Amino acid sequence: MTPSSIEPGVSGTKQVPGTSPYTLGKELHTPSDTGQWWRRAVIYQIYPRSFKDSTGSGMGDLAGITAELPKIATLGVDAIWLSPFFDSPQRDAGYDVSDYRSVDPLFGTLDDAQNLIDTAAGHGIKTIIDIVPNHCSNEHALFKAALAAAPGSAERAMFHFADGTGVGGNTPPNNWSSLFGGPGWTRITESDGSPGQYYFHLFDATQPDFNWRNPAVEAEFEATLRFWLDRGAGGFRIDVAHAMFKKEGMPDWHGAPDGTPTPGFPFAEAPMYGQPELHTVFARWREICEQYPGEPVLCSEANARPLTRLADWVAPGQMHQSFNFDYLRTLWDRDALAAVIGESLAAFDTVGAPTTWVLSNHDVSRHATRFGLDGVALDLGDGIGPRDPQPDEELGQARARAATLFMLGLPGGAYLYQGEELGLGDHTTLEDRYRQDPGFLRTNGAKTGRDGCRIPLPWVHDAPAAGFSPTGESWLPQPAGWAGFSRDLQEEDPASTLNLYRRALGLRSELGLGLGSLAFYTNPALPEVLAIRNGDTVNVLNLSGTAVPLPRGELLLCSDAAGTADAAAGWLGPNSAAWLRTLEAAGDAAGDEENV
Ligand code: GLC
Repeated sequence: MTPSSIEPGVSGTKQVPGTSPYTLGKELHTPSDTGQWWRRAVIYQIYPRSFKDSTGSGMGDLAGITAELPKIATLGVDAIWLSPFFDSPQRDAGYDVSDYRSVDPLFGTLDDAQNLIDTAAGHGIKTIIDIVPNHCSNEHALFKAALAAAPGSAERAMFHFADGTGVGGNTPPNNWSSLFGGPGWTRITESDGSPGQYYFHLFDATQPDFNWRNPAVEAEFEATLRFWLDRGAGGFRIDVAHAMFKKEGMPDWHGAPDGTPTPGFPFAEAPMYGQPELHTVFARWREICEQYPGEPVLCSEANARPLTRLADWVAPGQMHQSFNFDYLRTLWDRDALAAVIGESLAAFDTVGAPTTWVLSNHDVSRHATRFGLDGVALDLGDGIGPRDPQPDEELGQARARAATLFMLGLPGGAYLYQGEELGLGDHTTLEDRYRQDPGFLRTNGAKTGRDGCRIPLPWVHDAPAAGFSPTGESWLPQPAGWAGFSRDLQEEDPASTLNLYRRALGLRSELGLGLGSLAFYTNPALPEVLAIRNGDTVNVLNLSGTAVPLPRGELLLCSDAAGTADAAAGWLGPNSAAWLRTLEAAGDAAGDEENV
């Protein structure tokens, strides 16, 4: 394809590259340069089960991660975040913790964890530990003690135990339900065999919620934070941070019983979320982190709305960062993306916190899959299964590369999820018999669940299980064609997604984009082009299906290797993104800001 053969984005208007009127708006965000590493950090999420299996069990492990750290280091990330690897019956893939200060034998030993943290530090990579404070496993010693103790005991007061209501106490204490589907309360049998109290669980029945109004719970978690900080942790990702406190008295809620927002019942008022007492705990945890070297961070997983509320939990003295789920949820839509970027920066700038950006994690369909499903909105936790419409893989790949390049050019922090640097999508045809997600099991398959985005990684194209494990075992089967995404093939290929990520991360750091500024360009002739300026870099995302003229500038990087020559000549191909150096930064006196 030569530039002259490309039709411009707007039918009937033949535009010449460099003359399309992109007009620069006012700066919405100014550079922050406080020297604090986490303000611009790129954090790479490792899902230990699926990263690399060193033993052949079919389950990824800590030694496997440590062995591959040099490869992660070549990406150029600041930190890794490890999803839980603690002792656990694994009813929610380790988010049901039975001992927060241990390593599940599935994944190795405490020495393996120490070795991992130390080796990562040797590569200049911090290790962020995933702490699950809202709930534990029903096999945690504290919960077992609570079951064995009597109603009203100190042991029960660690959790939310309550008597049922109605005849024989047969009705649960309130109407709240589980986010995984089904009731939020489970009735126990007391030690004398009689039908007993109920306990509350926002997730699976094997995940009882802690009672954060009890100071003993707080003390328990302080000890856990210190345990990992003493071992060199670079901070914590705080699971379901917004749910830790429940409104006093746990009143019925007349919106969606799991608290998800519905018309007239905003999230902000749901009694199971966002209680003011959270601020005290977050402040205490911040103080604890500040007692350790290296600025350990607190990243809040609070799937909360609106953004202004989220920002409240990263105000000075609270957590450092919060995942930006509104950004992750945004569809392939120029105006929606522009709106969420503007709103995010406004909300977080108000409290002086960095905005973060994220496209994939272990709870949602990967962005290469989502963007291959034109116009389909996915609820968090709803995967794609064999009975669903299937994504257009090539389209998803192109858009995913473009979306990532664009995201990495935004000011703030960014999160990457293992395997996205290989261009992986979900396993979208995983058979039901393999599914393990409690969301699938508790809804009898009504929800597909999250297994499809958790498939073990491909490392070596011609090895069993694509090199994930030495024996070819794999706790979830890999889909057909997975080996084609293997890291070894991508290492060799300059046009690979892996090498795009490397170059983008290298340039992002070199150009200081994470600590940079943001102003939008507008170009009424190109309604499906999103363009921003960050310092001396112009970052353009073409969401349309046709090539469009780029603003003037010197091409730095294009998400589509095959489209690079065209981008250098001023044309950005469909579903692509590019970074350009502004003309004045490139030393061209002809640079004209009004008409770039
Ligand atoms: C968080 C985790 C998710 C887990 C849930 C319950 O949302 O990311 O994987 O199932 O919390 O712990």
